[in-house]
Amino acid sequence: VRTVDWAGDHLVIVEQTLLPHELRYVELRTVDEVIDAIQRLAVRGAPAIGVTGALGVALAVQQDLSTVRKQAARIRAARPTAVNLAWAVDRVLASVDPVAEAVAMIEEDIAVNRTLGNRGADLVGELCGVRPVTVHTHCNAGGLACVEWGTALGVVRALHERGLVREVIVDETRPLLQGSRITAFELAQMGIAHHVIVDGAAASVLAGRVAEVRVDVVVVGADRVAVNGDVCNKVGTYALALAAQHAGVPFIVAAPESTLDPATASGDAIQIELRSPSEVVAWDTPALNPAFDVTPADLVTAIVTERRVIRPAQGGTSGSRRPH
Ligand code: MRU
Repeated sequence: VRTVDWAGDHLVIVEQTLLPHELRYVELRTVDEVIDAIQRLAVRGAPAIGVTGALGVALAVQQDLSTVRKQAARIRAARPTAVNLAWAVDRVLASVDPVAEAVAMIEEDIAVNRTLGNRGADLVGELCGVRPVTVHTHCNAGGLACVEWGTALGVVRALHERGLVREVIVDETRPLLQGSRITAFELAQMGIAHHVIVDGAAASVLAGRVAEVRVDVVVVGADRVAVNGDVCNKVGTYALALAAQHAGVPFIVAAPESTLDPATASGDAIQIELRSPSEVVAWDTPALNPAFDVTPADLVTAIVTERRVIRPAQGGTSGSRRPH
């Protein structure tokens, strides 16, 4: 499955709102369709919306050169939290050949995440010993959140190739169920043993109080990593990190360098997307729906990228450089 692809004069994406019941591809032929797909999470996950945004700019370049900057600004603002979107749009705009640059990002994303996955699998071996492990994850940071491989699930996939996954515990991830719909779908496709749990069960599972499950390591993705090592990811990640620390379970963040934001000093400066209450409640009652949260750096054992392993508790991500 390729989450997002370029067909010469339009994009093709997996319509993720229909998963796991239907794997449907849809074409995006205008900038408005690209923005709509990003906003309603037809395409989602930080690296995937980055590549989609970049290809959206390519579309704008092909269709009307005089409005490219305006259209790019609209795409950039489609979702505020994942830095990959702004990063990718800016990169394509600054390039001499925006269409070629955007298309190159497709293969680059796959290569980056393969490297990241192997580095993360090595790190799990260092932290847990080289043996089959139980991994706990939140939301979906798999191939469907990227172009084809994955970040957190890329680590799981690399471990699975080495025969080192006992099972994966998947938080269902309220309210849009990226865990139970999309991560479980991907794990089933890969033939990796897993159990979905409700988000509220995560702390008990990590504490070893549910059935025979003993979690060895938590691995999650990220939408933006601040310079001090604070990690913004799907809402519920912070609670998972607190529970992991209390249970003495290592907490790893798997993210490409493009998710590290040198312009954001700490998590305090990250804009958290507030989505519609209608995603949370089915009747007319007040609800707050923050889509992301910030895990403080001191709860993060390590951040693994395609280039390195960062220990945020030992000095944040300073010294980080963008890939380009
Ligand atoms: O709202 P979503 O589904 O786009 O949120 C996705 C996440 O929070 C992922 O964990 C994150 O983007 C990392 S994806 C490799």
